[in-house]
Amino acid sequence: MGPRRSAASSRGRLLLPLLLLGVSGFFQSYAVEVDIKDASNATCLYANWMMRFLITYESNNGDYKTTTLNLSSSATHNGSVCGNDTQAALVAVQFGEGHSWSINITKNNETYQGDFMTLTYNTNDTAVFPDAKRKGPVTIFIKDPAGPVQLNTVFVCHNSFDIEAENITQIFWNVTLQAFVQNGTVSKKETRCPADRPTSAPTVPPTSANATTAPTTAAPPAPTPPKPVENPDTGNYSLKSGNKTCFLATVGLQLNVSQDKPLLININPKTTVADGACGNTTATLKLNDGNSTLIGFTFAVKNASASVQKFYLREVNVTLLNRLNGSVISSADNNNLSKWDAFLGSSYMCRKEQTLQINENVQVHTFNLWIQPFLVEANKFATAQECSLDDDSILIPIVVGAALAVLIAIIVVAYIIGRRKSYAGYQTL
Ligand SMILES: *[C@@H]1O[C@H](CO)[C@@H](O)[C@H](O)[C@H]1NC(C)=O
Ligand SMILES: *[C@@H]1O[C@H](CO)[C@@H](O)[C@H](O)[C@H]1NC(C)=O
Ligand SMILES: *[C@@H]1O[C@H](CO)[C@@H](O)[C@H](O)[C@H]1NC(C)=O
Ligand SMILES: *[C@@H]1O[C@H](CO)[C@@H](O)[C@H](O)[C@H]1NC(C)=O
Ligand SMILES: *[C@@H]1O[C@H](CO)[C@@H](O)[C@H](O)[C@H]1NC(C)=O
Ligand SMILES: *[C@@H]1O[C@H](CO)[C@@H](O)[C@H](O)[C@H]1NC(C)=O
Ligand SMILES: *[C@@H]1O[C@H](CO)[C@@H](O)[C@H](O)[C@H]1NC(C)=O
Ligand SMILES: *[C@@H]1O[C@H](CO)[C@@H](O)[C@H](O)[C@H]1NC(C)=O
Repeated sequence: MGPRRSAASSRGRLLLPLLLLGVSGFFQSYAVEVDIKDASNATCLYANWMMRFLITYESNNGDYKTTTLNLSSSATHNGSVCGNDTQAALVAVQFGEGHSWSINITKNNETYQGDFMTLTYNTNDTAVFPDAKRKGPVTIFIKDPAGPVQLNTVFVCHNSFDIEAENITQIFWNVTLQAFVQNGTVSKKETRCPADRPTSAPTVPPTSANATTAPTTAAPPAPTPPKPVENPDTGNYSLKSGNKTCFLATVGLQLNVSQDKPLLININPKTTVADGACGNTTATLKLNDGNSTLIGFTFAVKNASASVQKFYLREVNVTLLNRLNGSVISSADNNNLSKWDAFLGSSYMCRKEQTLQINENVQVHTFNLWIQPFLVEANKFATAQECSLDDDSILIPIVVGAALAVLIAIIVVAYIIGRRKSYAGYQTL
């Protein structure tokens, strides 16, 4: 179970402007160019790339939020070194209000390879971390997962790739980098990242696919496998009304998005923040996974006049954003659901996997679900009504009963046979 995320429902009204702000923030991306020259004024290290960071931090009221840290137009690259003599190069950039990022690169006989990335973000920067509980610089070290690049080739990656660590997702794109440049000219030979390779590869064994691309090199392994097959991690989410928890949810979420072919996306609870609004007859939980996926769940109370009231899941919507510019890639909504019903004042539980069909292309799979959208008391779930799928409790008595019945039948048959035999034996005497 991840740490509990929560969000004040009063901020529900702010969600739209905040989202728009986030979207406009997506455009403020600047490329960094680092071109280091040696004593004879020849280029010995060249890098040009774009990156942004998604950072989850604790806010003043104990909620966890995910923010986007972008490069500013005024990035500097103090401290970058070629290291042609020491076999260790460093690309370092400083940007914004006290943020910095660097990577040290080592050279071997035939290859060069990133070693560690160091990110320092300063939560004093109120534009990026408006309400951070702890103010000041935070430094994290991330081992570069990419493999070695052949010397005298330039590493190129146009498509975006992620590197995740702790509470950070680093997103890179439009990357051109060559360390240990010889003779002052950036190579024409490229080593392409996995994200740039044609996706039609699956039918061809990877080795022969490599052989067909011009610069055959030891290429870095894919940073993120595209299809998770494992179940998603379970997250804990809650909403508050004032300082009282009014909505509780525990759930593992997986999306099945079929564009060309079905794609399974696990929602990472560590980067996901909850927002939304509680109400007397409707309640909405909005989850933003900090990584371009938004999922909203709306619950309603059934026929509010009935003496025994029930709530149910009425609507689910899923929005996928382009992570580079924040534009909406697809949006799916089903506001005609009638699922997960339970008596008002209780909670609903379903540990088994369930599927919510949002439209013909989008499904939401839930795991380990426990949810209470109304009448939460003392920050705790009320008694749960379980889904029928979970009713092992009924199945077990049935199985035990059936076994008992079979046993009794055997005993009866054995008794009858035994009695007949002994009767027959008695008769012959
Ligand atoms: C580098 O090359 C030298 C000589 O060619 C060899 O002895 C050494 O093992 C190589 N080192 C690596 C890491 O390949
Ligand atoms: C790269 O930087 C990390 C973090 O500062 C350091 O631990 C590591 O030793 C460095 N690697 C090399 C080869 O200098
Ligand atoms: C953060 O900002 C506060 C107020 O501006 C300042 O007093 C403090 O020294 C800063 N801390 C760091 C680590 O920059
Ligand atoms: C990548 O860089 C090229 C040129 O350097 C630019 O035209 C393009 O817009 C960039 N792509 C993105 C996604 O920023
Ligand atoms: C650099 O120049 C030297 C001598 O002119 C040449 O032997 C070597 O192949 C060149 N290296 C590259 C990577 O062009
Ligand atoms: C909220 O907290 C404040 C103090 O922390 C307390 O005075 C107030 O009664 C609380 N309100 C509710 C609704 O619990
Ligand atoms: C994903 O959705 C597609 C189309 O809706 C369906 O055919 C496929 O079986 C689903 N896959 C999983 C793992 O649910
Ligand atoms: C965002 O990027 C996608 C693909 O890179 C492009 O099709 C779309 O038009 C862009 N949207 C905006 C608003 O720039």
